[in-house]
Amino acid sequence: MSDIAILEVDGKKYEFPIIRGTEGEVAIDIKKLRGSTEGIITIDPGYKNTGSCQSAITFLDGEKGILRYRGYGLEDLAENSNFLEVAYLVIFGELPTKEQFIKFDNTIKSNSLINEEMKNILDGFPKSAHPMGILSSLTSALTAFNPKSVDVNDEEQMYNAICKTMAKIPVLAAWALKKIKGRSLNYADNSMNYIENIMKMMFAIPTEKYKTNPIVANALDQLLILHVDHEQNCSTSTVRIVGSAHSGLFASISAGVSALWGPLHGGANQAVIEMLESIIKDGGDVEKYILKAKDKNDPFRLMGFGHRVYKNFDPRARIIKKAADELLENLGIDDPVLEIAKHLEEVALKDEYFVKRKLYPNVDFYSGIIYRALGIPTDMFTVMFAIGRLPGWIAQWREMRLNSEPIGRPRQLYIGENQRDFVPVSKR
Ligand code: SDX
Repeated sequence: MSDIAILEVDGKKYEFPIIRGTEGEVAIDIKKLRGSTEGIITIDPGYKNTGSCQSAITFLDGEKGILRYRGYGLEDLAENSNFLEVAYLVIFGELPTKEQFIKFDNTIKSNSLINEEMKNILDGFPKSAHPMGILSSLTSALTAFNPKSVDVNDEEQMYNAICKTMAKIPVLAAWALKKIKGRSLNYADNSMNYIENIMKMMFAIPTEKYKTNPIVANALDQLLILHVDHEQNCSTSTVRIVGSAHSGLFASISAGVSALWGPLHGGANQAVIEMLESIIKDGGDVEKYILKAKDKNDPFRLMGFGHRVYKNFDPRARIIKKAADELLENLGIDDPVLEIAKHLEEVALKDEYFVKRKLYPNVDFYSGIIYRALGIPTDMFTVMFAIGRLPGWIAQWREMRLNSEPIGRPRQLYIGENQRDFVPVSKR
């Protein structure tokens, strides 16, 4: 196998090294392209063919529908591990020993309090605010109360910053829900585990002792594992590029929350449920919406379908669909939205338009059905995605900084006006 790629432009040949990943992926290293060709660059809108980094965190194979965190198969982890343990694995690279896990859990618990002045910022939001906007703002505001920048090469400082982030973001997420519901804020309860605390902070009311339903806690734990990381997706790339300017971890994650909010990305889980509910309201005519999704003149897209990388079933969607079935049966819930989702999937997967474009259900297609069954309001679905993706954002930010990667600054191809002289307003 050759380790050189040859590019020929205007009769001149240029050689570039080929680098290979541990799973056999092949990349052309064009670091020296512009310098060695008197200024030639590549163009790749949406970076569909361009790698931004070399990473050891997540491997996914879109053609085969494979997803692994630090070499461990997603199915294996979803079956045998828990969210906090997977967070440790993704961030630090190895599954924790019992002692390491206890230290991680305890350090997080000792960092879950939020400065009371943060409530003044929360109070500034109207009840109509979207919780993702609240979460992004409050996450950024954490910098004001933790101004000391972190030396990423100081292991203890980095460990404490990581635990602080893992501790505080779920509290802020729960506060966002309480804000839009007009209810009193909760704090974590250190006698509960990480997942139980997320539910308790979102749903506990001051007049009653909160009791976790183990079926609900297990379903949420598994669902969050499936969201932990997904290599260089839009929000993770955002966290990396903001962090590459040496902006702090809170500021970088705040930017990631904003990127995830978009309906083409993490916001799709909310858009899926809204789409399914509108199909039910419109009489449940699935074929009509399949036609709309195929119609180039109709802006309607089948939300929760298609993926930049997966050209086969998203392995997460497969696990979530099974978990949704089991959870609704365990809780005795008969949700018409699940039935219409299954019908839509069945019709789409037989339709040439979707088959030809390899459009399958993605992680967002069924996740909202589980969130609904857990009593989580639709507006909060993408916030739940952010809680799940938090360890991945932290891991990717840390890897980028520890690798001392350069500031992200893409080039462009200028297609504007050539040089022209100023024209005074009297002559325009
Ligand atoms: C996430 O990157 C990640 O890893 C993201 C994520 C993660 O874990 O971080 O996996 C989470 O964001 C999942 C994706 C959630 N988004 C949605 O479900 C929104 C609906 N999906 C699409 O908007 C779309 O599929 C994207 C944005 C997900 C991917 O878009 P691409 O890769 O840019 O593909 P494209 O838009 O170029 O589509 C290729 C073709 C086009 O048709 P043609 O021009 O070839 O005729 O497929 C069509 C598109 O019109 N198409 C769809 C469609 N998705 C793509 N047609 C109808 N419905 C859809 N959902």
